[in-house]
Amino acid sequence: MAALVENLRRIYFLLLCVGVWATGSRDIRYSLDDDVLSPYTGSYGSSHSHRYVRDCQPITHGNVTHETWPASNHSGSPVVESKMFMSDISTNSETPKWVSGHITVVHDPVRTVSVLEPGGPDGCEKSRRELVENTARTRKCLIAQNGGYFDTLSGHCLGNVVSDGRLVQNSRGLQNAQFGIKKDGTLVFGYLSEEDVLDEVNPFVQLISGVVWLLRAGEVYINESMQAECDRTQETGTFQRFVEVMSARTAVGHDVEGRLILFHVDGQTDRRGMNLWEVAEFLKKQGVVNAINLDGGGSATYVLNGSLASLPSDHCVEAMWRCPRAVSTVLCVHERLCQPEDCSQHGVCVDGQCECQPGWTGPTCANLTCQPAACGDHGMCTPDGCVCDAGWMGANCSQECAAGFYGDGCNQMCTCVNGGSCDSVHGRCSCPAGFYGDSCEEECPLGFYGLRCLQPCQCSDLCPCDPVTGSCNNTLHDQRNSSLHRGTDHISTLTPEHLISQWKIGVCFGWY
Ligand SMILES: *[C@@H]1O[C@H](CO)[C@@H](O)[C@H](O)[C@H]1NC(C)=O
Ligand SMILES: *[C@@H]1O[C@H](CO)[C@@H](O)[C@H](O)[C@H]1NC(C)=O
Ligand SMILES: *[C@@H]1O[C@H](CO)[C@@H](O)[C@H](O)[C@H]1NC(C)=O
Ligand SMILES: *[C@@H]1O[C@H](CO)[C@@H](O)[C@H](O)[C@H]1NC(C)=O
Ligand SMILES: *[C@@H]1O[C@H](CO)[C@@H](O)[C@H](O)[C@H]1NC(C)=O
Ligand SMILES: *[C@@H]1O[C@H](CO)[C@@H](O)[C@H](O)[C@H]1NC(C)=O
Ligand SMILES: *[C@@H]1O[C@H](CO)[C@@H](O)[C@H](O)[C@H]1NC(C)=O
Ligand SMILES: *[C@@H]1O[C@H](CO)[C@@H](O)[C@H](O)[C@H]1NC(C)=O
Repeated sequence: MAALVENLRRIYFLLLCVGVWATGSRDIRYSLDDDVLSPYTGSYGSSHSHRYVRDCQPITHGNVTHETWPASNHSGSPVVESKMFMSDISTNSETPKWVSGHITVVHDPVRTVSVLEPGGPDGCEKSRRELVENTARTRKCLIAQNGGYFDTLSGHCLGNVVSDGRLVQNSRGLQNAQFGIKKDGTLVFGYLSEEDVLDEVNPFVQLISGVVWLLRAGEVYINESMQAECDRTQETGTFQRFVEVMSARTAVGHDVEGRLILFHVDGQTDRRGMNLWEVAEFLKKQGVVNAINLDGGGSATYVLNGSLASLPSDHCVEAMWRCPRAVSTVLCVHERLCQPEDCSQHGVCVDGQCECQPGWTGPTCANLTCQPAACGDHGMCTPDGCVCDAGWMGANCSQECAAGFYGDGCNQMCTCVNGGSCDSVHGRCSCPAGFYGDSCEEECPLGFYGLRCLQPCQCSDLCPCDPVTGSCNNTLHDQRNSSLHRGTDHISTLTPEHLISQWKIGVCFGWY
């Protein structure tokens, strides 16, 4: 008996190890992906051309395959309001059909809604899959829902993705229902050609692809969507089932005021939830004008302020529990963003308004407090106000340096003597007639006079002249005697030629 118990214990221990190994190979918070609701059997997307979609749509829509609506730009708070519903949507009163989910109203979608890649920028490139909660955390989303379709095996993001103005991927004109926000604040719902997606004049700042345009201009548009979006290489059976099966669903639309409406309903494929006809009718009753269907089934996820607030349909590893699925792109509602988001790197964004650092101003903090014009021709406008060129001063750099000063901030003192005047930029001395040298400290050498001592004297017998006027008057005698006498102190070093010239000068001045 004891041996049997011991053996059972061993077997149990072994099983426990296998169990731990099996769960350890996969994070237990993640789902088994067992409620996959796919519109297509193989790859994603309609095989129809844009031209086909345009040509086969009801004549009332003319050539336009999408609808546009100016987004509400209501600037008040809160930015988003979410309501929970638990409703009986049965059409006959005998068998009630209860559904629960959330309707979220976004008042200023242009500044508060972002398409996020899974786990952050580059998530699509890396085919990442991430829980909506985790992706929502990267942008502090107040409300987040799963968004576009993805390949559950490879993790590839499917369809078009533009996230906060970055074109992440272009589906090359796949004809599936799209939701986007354009740079000018227009909401766009419907089918887009590749040229529409790549428009550079008014580019998309957010764009995501769903499957099935639920409501077009206030009318249910599912039959037309099925014609446009089903894959003609497959039988319509798969697509029809996708539309008609009850399941968990998510959708995005807008109301007549241009507010964005996010929709989510809990469910499980074939058992609970809503089919797309029911979703379209439900949204229509809520005043939604245009809406497209986004990924559903086990992907349908609603996250409120960072926490899961929907009932996921996928099972966890332990069958007792349900787990949220790691999905691809996310629709995120966050606090208002500033444009540009970083306030031109000179401020901080507070509820959509840039608060600028000192020295900067304007709605985007891109303008200096001083305007370039205010600093005139001799100054530069900087965060610290006008910075004047060398030689200029004053609040708007319109004053030249005071006499005797020069340079940056006019804080250098001029060194000119003998009445020389100083250039206010570099401090160079301009000497009056009769003087030269860096500071005008030298008189003209004998035999020269005038400005910069360039004029040779014109006196008879090579006599020197007045250094200022060039006059050959004898009164020079008194003015110049000191330098001449200094010369005679060094007479022993003078050559005969010098002696002769000294003698001549002496003659000129009448010393001999
Ligand atoms: C649709 O476009 C074609 C050419 O692209 C044009 O000839 C036709 O008039 C357009 N129809 C409408 C209703 O705009
Ligand atoms: C808000 O939207 C209206 C039209 O929807 C537009 O006329 C107005 O200029 C917008 N205001 C701002 C600040 O964008
Ligand atoms: C959609 O198509 C089906 C059959 O093709 C038709 O019975 C149904 O009335 C159509 N619904 C709408 C809203 O046009
Ligand atoms: C969101 O969560 C943060 C903490 O995670 C909390 O401070 C804040 O009050 C919450 N906001 C709402 C609207 O629940
Ligand atoms: C900011 O600078 C731009 C261009 O320099 C100018 O057009 C605009 O009026 C300035 N805005 C403010 C608020 O000074
Ligand atoms: C510079 O400031 C003075 C007063 O300090 C003012 O009289 C003058 O007009 C200003 N010049 C310019 C170009 O702003
Ligand atoms: C020479 O000096 C006398 C007296 O100092 C003066 O009257 C005269 O004009 C001078 N001559 C010249 C050519 O400068
Ligand atoms: C010239 O020399 C005499 C005597 O040496 C002196 O008194 C006089 O001041 C000198 N003049 C000048 C201008 O240096």
